[in-house]
Amino acid sequence: MSHSILLLPGDGIGPEVVAQARRVLERVADLYNLTIELDEANLGGVAIDREGSAYPETTQAKARSAAALLLGAVGGPQWDGLPAAQRPERGLLAIRADLDLFANLRPAILFPQLADASSLKPELVAGLDILIVRELTGGIYFGEPRGIRTREDGEREGYNTYIYRESEIERIAQLAFELAAKRDGRVTSVDKANVLEVTQLWREVVTRVAENFAGVDLDHLYVDNAAMQLVREPKQFDVLVTGNIFGDILSDTAAMLTGSIGMLPSASLNALSAGLYEPVHGSAPDIAGQDRANPLATILSVAMLLRYSLNAGNAAAAVEAAVSTVLDQGCRTADIAAEGDAVIGTEAMGTAVLKALKGHEGNEL
Ligand code: IPM
Ligand code: MG
Repeated sequence: MSHSILLLPGDGIGPEVVAQARRVLERVADLYNLTIELDEANLGGVAIDREGSAYPETTQAKARSAAALLLGAVGGPQWDGLPAAQRPERGLLAIRADLDLFANLRPAILFPQLADASSLKPELVAGLDILIVRELTGGIYFGEPRGIRTREDGEREGYNTYIYRESEIERIAQLAFELAAKRDGRVTSVDKANVLEVTQLWREVVTRVAENFAGVDLDHLYVDNAAMQLVREPKQFDVLVTGNIFGDILSDTAAMLTGSIGMLPSASLNALSAGLYEPVHGSAPDIAGQDRANPLATILSVAMLLRYSLNAGNAAAAVEAAVSTVLDQGCRTADIAAEGDAVIGTEAMGTAVLKALKGHEGNEL
């Protein structure tokens, strides 16, 4: 069976990190006898420039028929002047909605080799393994009405709508419990139920879903407390499930615990296990085109792609092992380098992973 995979390099450092991830994907496919067909399309700012919209029709057609998608990043200062509805980020939101990618999995795992790169004390983060399950196609990101309007008194006001249907909460909660059952069996649901009715409903529905998972413990935290606990004692968490905007914020915090946001992959899945895989980091326009970006988050996103959309767990583990090997070897891009470490570039890091992969299980090309 052949798997069609669509690459969406996007903006900023996106093309550089996707190029390295592509090399890894092609190599691991060879090593594990996976037939893949790669295609490429525009998303984000590059799509605005080349095709006039952030999620153009050509990309839509290719995206809908792909088994999996690998995205770099979108956005950059050259598009900052555009009205909100035309910005590159809207392309990302549009593709998430179009493919119904409601479940965003953001693991925050600390590679022991990087314990010193964390801004927290090594003992607080050693062995850290958190999975953030973020609802991705609802909440305040998508709620209507939204906009900026002029009031009767002439002053302008901005407004958004924070809204969740029960079915939206139910399906993300269900997935969080299923995943927790395969891990440490603990779910923490994050809300702001002391203030926001929408998250009162969230808490109620998550509690109801929990009744079907006798082996999984559930607790609830307000988002402010969750943010504090994440930097106070992060290892208390197993699976964190939360809505779109809280998940956006907490996943950046969790990322930093692991040393660098340049290390964290993500998977956005729909009910059919088609998925969009992307690094948690953004397009980093300040270092774009300079061979300085860390490609490991995108390479680890390839591992998630193999595991969740291609059902190739062995190949996924091989990619993860190769990343661990290059860290053991001392390969460091600038973002994960400690003082005095030799720093390598994006391409050299990709090459190091390729070499490490080749040796895995002695399985030569
Ligand atoms: C993310 C990003 C996006 C989001 C932006 C680029 C729209 O921050 O994937 O976390 O807010 O979801
Ligand atoms: Mg974000």
